[in-house]
Amino acid sequence: MYKIFITRKLPEEIVQPLREKFEVIMWHSDEIPMKYEDIKKEAKDCNALWTVLSDKVDRELIESLPNLRIISNLAVGYNNIDIEAAKEKGIIVTNTPGVLTETTADLTFALLLATARRITEAEQDIRAGKWKSWTPMQLTGMDVYGSTLGIIGMGRIGEAVARRAKGFDMKVLYHNRTRKLESEQQYNFTYVELETLLKESDFVVILTPLTPETRGLIGKKELEMMKETSALINVARGGIVDEQALYDALVNKSIWAAGLDVFETEPVPLDHPLLTLPNVTVLPHIGSASIYTRLAMMQINATAIEDALEERVPENRVV
Ligand code: NAP
Ligand code: GLV
Repeated sequence: MYKIFITRKLPEEIVQPLREKFEVIMWHSDEIPMKYEDIKKEAKDCNALWTVLSDKVDRELIESLPNLRIISNLAVGYNNIDIEAAKEKGIIVTNTPGVLTETTADLTFALLLATARRITEAEQDIRAGKWKSWTPMQLTGMDVYGSTLGIIGMGRIGEAVARRAKGFDMKVLYHNRTRKLESEQQYNFTYVELETLLKESDFVVILTPLTPETRGLIGKKELEMMKETSALINVARGGIVDEQALYDALVNKSIWAAGLDVFETEPVPLDHPLLTLPNVTVLPHIGSASIYTRLAMMQINATAIEDALEERVPENRVV
């Protein structure tokens, strides 16, 4: 019987149908994430490895699993997996694109609004008993309606964010590897070079994958190009932004605020300097976290694993 190893605790309604055909071993805890060394030890003879975005699946791990046929990642991003190593071994890798696009765009927009209007800071003030009177300039923020939005990475989620921005009468600039001519015409987006986007946007939203090319894409030089009144929103991956440079830019007031759903190290350490700044709105990587979407993502993984183990070609193959 083929063996599936799952590195997180998943809802039984998703896993049960697989149990009828395969041996399924699933991590037992929601509180304690599975460690790399434990995956290596406990997944040793598995045929399918079901991972989450924070599991490091490197060459060493891949080469230590001799019976592996498929790695199915519960995310659209797959920067946690050594794709070349999987390819060399003939191992299929699948992800969950599309189904999470609109949900992640909703969250991106929520984070943009929260950052602009200082929503979490305002709530914290009330709970801390700091609301003493209505004050004309208290907790004043940035206008979103009618502002300029710059999207770096105009893919599925980027486009879904841009469509939402139209309802706020925002001017939408974008920078991407390839031009999206059809969408430019349909939605009135404007393609610009990265430098122009950084100089002209009120909100810079990052939505590229983390790749060797995008790692550190936003550093000191890029942050210095942004307006002093602007905000940086990162819902893509922590490694795309140089966090020390971002901290410096926020402290030196060379940009006004940041909204972050992702960090270089996750969970973000409690003593991280960015957490000390009131003009940083933080979320624990919840872009796709609606009940419907997370269950739909898991269903995609489950079907891909079943297909691969039963010799059908799964959808959403990365390799
Ligand atoms: P996608 O459709 O592949 O879009 C990514 C876009 O980035 C593509 O248009 C791509 O351009 C562009 N791009 C790639 N490298 C670039 C570069 N060096 N410079 C400029 N643009 C570049 O992916 P998606 O579904 O929108 O997801 C995007 C990313 O969001 C994922 O990879 C993931 O890391 C992140 N994400 C985060 C959450 C969360 O919970 N926070 C949830 C979902 C996704 P081309 O079209 O030319 O390749
Ligand atoms: C989440 O970050 C994803 O890549 O799906």
